[in-house]
Amino acid sequence: MALLDVKDLSVTFATPEGTVNAVNGVTFALDKGETLGIVGESGSGKSQLSFAIMGLLAKNGTATGSVIFDGKEILNAPPKVIGPIRAMKIAMIFQDPMTSLNPYMRVADQMAEVLTHHKGMAKAEAVTEAVRMLDAVKIPDAKGRVHLYPHEFSGGMRQRVMIAMSLLGRPELLIADEPTTALDVTVQAQIMKLLSELQRDFGMATILITHDLGVVAGFCEDVLVLYGGQVMEKSPVEPLFQMPAHPYSKGLLKAIPRVDQEGDELDSIPGSPPNMTNAPKGCPFAPRCDYVRDDCRERLNPLTQFAPDRWRACNRTLEEIA
Ligand SMILES: Nc1ncnc2c1ncn2[C@@H]1O[C@H](COP(=O)(O)OP(=O)(O)OP(=O)(O)O)[C@@H](O)[C@H]1O
Ligand SMILES: [Mg+2]
Repeated sequence: MALLDVKDLSVTFATPEGTVNAVNGVTFALDKGETLGIVGESGSGKSQLSFAIMGLLAKNGTATGSVIFDGKEILNAPPKVIGPIRAMKIAMIFQDPMTSLNPYMRVADQMAEVLTHHKGMAKAEAVTEAVRMLDAVKIPDAKGRVHLYPHEFSGGMRQRVMIAMSLLGRPELLIADEPTTALDVTVQAQIMKLLSELQRDFGMATILITHDLGVVAGFCEDVLVLYGGQVMEKSPVEPLFQMPAHPYSKGLLKAIPRVDQEGDELDSIPGSPPNMTNAPKGCPFAPRCDYVRDDCRERLNPLTQFAPDRWRACNRTLEEIA
């Protein structure tokens, strides 16, 4: 049985301008200890997909479909079911550490609170465990620094604190939503290396959300390419890099920053992501696709398996887009 089984998950938002179709029929599964990258440009539905799983959608949002975690349906589950799971079994780390850190509380107190509240630990024992986690994320002098406030840490160190906090419950699943985009490039690399080591040591399943396929390559076994809230391609990382099977994946691959590239000009995909309000039928990528034909604007092929472990949603043949 998969650890996480997401079936036909859709998310809509009611707005004065109409219905926003943020996530449209996404299906995937994740086993214990597996790593999955979810990539797509801004607005492709990556965050709302994870918020729906975690039961953290905004008030105007509605989620449909099914999310089975550890054999239990958790989509739209009542707080008494999802609350303990969210605190202990599924952890989420965000782009901005201050989303989960309380600026007015010393790190020791907020980390300890998680353990005293959810695991019934005594305060002293909980602080010891907090220090152990700060050590695990390589914060120098963790014992002394645990008594600081979040703003007394640098950006990179604060991100480490948040990662330590998310690991306190020894989660079975970690969802990392753009965990490094707010950091400078060297710190980004350090944090990704750390996450990779922690993932291995703790053996937790991990979903890494990013707009950069390059980051996925170093971290994940599998990748889900999302566009317009739909899965365009699902594949193990290596074959996707060798032969992307969707024009959108091809575009994302070209947009990976390369060290040998002159200047900072990237081959970003021309055009902009679709407006998801009253989205038109057909393939969401059609307006930007080099291989588009009339039928693409009428309908989109459902996600179809074309090789072992590989799926794609495209009306064109592999030869046509090669
Ligand atoms: N509360 C809301 N009401 C209406 N629309 C929303 C709401 N929250 C998100 N959306 C819309 O849902 C769509 C998907 O957003 P989402 O945050 O998942 O994108 P993303 O892929 O995470 O992008 P980014 O890379 O910028 O974080 C966007 O069109 C966004 O504007
Ligand atoms: Mg996001």
